[in-house]
Amino acid sequence: MSGATGSRLLSGNSRLIQEVEQKLASIFKSEAALILNSGYSANLAIFSSLPQRNDTILYDELAHASIKDGARLSLAKRFSFRHNDMNDLEAKLKRATGNIYVAIESVYSMDGDECPLEDLITLTTKHGAFVVLDEAHSTGTRGATGRGIATSSRSLKTVDVRLYTFGKGMGVHGACVAGSRNLIEYLINFARPFIYTTALTPHSIAAIDCSFDYLNKNIHLQSDLTENINSFLKGISAFPNRTASRSAIQTVIVPGNSNVREAASGLQEQGFDIRPIVSPTVPAGSERLRICIHTYNTLDEIVKLTEELKKL
Ligand SMILES: Cc1ncc(COP(=O)(O)O)c(C=O)c1O
Repeated sequence: MSGATGSRLLSGNSRLIQEVEQKLASIFKSEAALILNSGYSANLAIFSSLPQRNDTILYDELAHASIKDGARLSLAKRFSFRHNDMNDLEAKLKRATGNIYVAIESVYSMDGDECPLEDLITLTTKHGAFVVLDEAHSTGTRGATGRGIATSSRSLKTVDVRLYTFGKGMGVHGACVAGSRNLIEYLINFARPFIYTTALTPHSIAAIDCSFDYLNKNIHLQSDLTENINSFLKGISAFPNRTASRSAIQTVIVPGNSNVREAASGLQEQGFDIRPIVSPTVPAGSERLRICIHTYNTLDEIVKLTEELKKL
């Protein structure tokens, strides 16, 4: 038997999971943490269970599909606001009813740009709204001990629900929600994507544990990544068709599904593992090459890639 055997609420719980959850709570500086099987199920868990009928969910228009799907499962009203646009968010906060949940990401998965967290906190505090921050693309890569962008004491206090995923920067699998003990108790008892599924396997839990130990011993990996990102940015600084990203997610816009597919396969033939992102995943006209910079990329590889991109 190598699986967890069942749901956490039946036979699937273990001392190992609880110990790793305590360790994650200390890494993410929260009262408690709850491991879920993936970031996708974590967002479903949060948005399907917390907001109630007559509450309002406001989400950034570029939020991940799992946030939008979670909001769809809720009985609350849901509206998007323009990407990173605090004026549009404020207009919608003024019209919102019930408890208000504002859903944002630290680093947006398709554009690689960051949310203006401090401005957003000022606004949501003024309107008494809860903040749900998805740190999928900053877990491990940003912040001391890999704790992402919500590191100031103000953000740790005011961001009510934080979501970290382990399948990206941490190189393993799974996710956790970090927040107050009340929040975690509530999710354990009401979040169906947590309750009605078999828990992660013990080796997945051990892998999460080891990945944070590894990062802790090799924290230089974060600055190695920043150096590689800066080298890439230097190489394409004169390139017009990009999003304003300083993260490991970089894009080059190549409008049209067939054009971007062709550009990606040309780069793949040169040995670069670069994928096209086509419409409707992104709006028509903003199809793009999505480039993920890694710690293990060499300077030669990065320079060669920027040279190839200039030929497009
Ligand atoms: C912002 C964001 N949240 C959640 C997820 C889902 O995480 P997971 O792959 O662990 O299901 C992703 C990507 O997959 C993502 O980009």
